[in-house]
Amino acid sequence: MKLQILVGSVRESRESFKIGQWFSKGATQEGSFNEVELIDLKDWDLPLKMEAETADSRHSTDEYRYEYTKKWSAKISEGDAYIFVTPEYNHGYSAPLKNAIDLLYYEWAHKPAAMVSLGGVGGARGMEALIPVLVAVQIIPIAYNVRLSYDEVKDDGVESEQGEQRAKGLLPPLAAYAKALQPVREQLRPK
Ligand SMILES: Cc1cc2nc3c(=O)[nH]c(=O)nc-3n(C[C@H](O)[C@H](O)[C@H](O)COP(=O)(O)O)c2cc1C
Repeated sequence: MKLQILVGSVRESRESFKIGQWFSKGATQEGSFNEVELIDLKDWDLPLKMEAETADSRHSTDEYRYEYTKKWSAKISEGDAYIFVTPEYNHGYSAPLKNAIDLLYYEWAHKPAAMVSLGGVGGARGMEALIPVLVAVQIIPIAYNVRLSYDEVKDDGVESEQGEQRAKGLLPPLAAYAKALQPVREQLRPK
């Protein structure tokens, strides 16, 4: 089973990439998922321009028109579960993350996700704002997250005992949901 970790900040000097790397390393060592992939939205540089047909009317990658939507669709289709590493911007989550989610639909559907953030209150407000968006694309958000404070994200990486404990605590249930939802996905996928 494959875990995809999405880094939702694309700004210069972002902290979220370090957080994504830290989480990815920890998840690889922890072993609940046999594949762990870090996806950096900065590398993907997804345009805001959307397809004429909304993604919820698509049932396969080759139905998209733009090459970048096809590539993004193929990439996200590979995941069995997601970690969204989102910064908290003005009490919300990041705009690149919203765009990355909105470009697709069936690719996300019936898969579990958890969130990781940092901020004044551990990014809790941004994560809370993200939940209804995940639900709208049929992602199943699980009630586990990792909330980091600024002093836990150093220049050369994350140092957080409580963050590590929370990360270790969420991976087994996330993997269990991913496995349990596999037949659900098969059953509910439009034919
Ligand atoms: C546009 C903007 C808005 C922000 N708003 C908040 C906020 O509402 N709450 C908060 O705790 N931190 C806020 N911050 C501080 C971020 O938590 C901090 O910059 C963090 O490093 C952002 O993640 P990033 O470095 O991965 O982009 C904001 C930062 C930016 C750039």
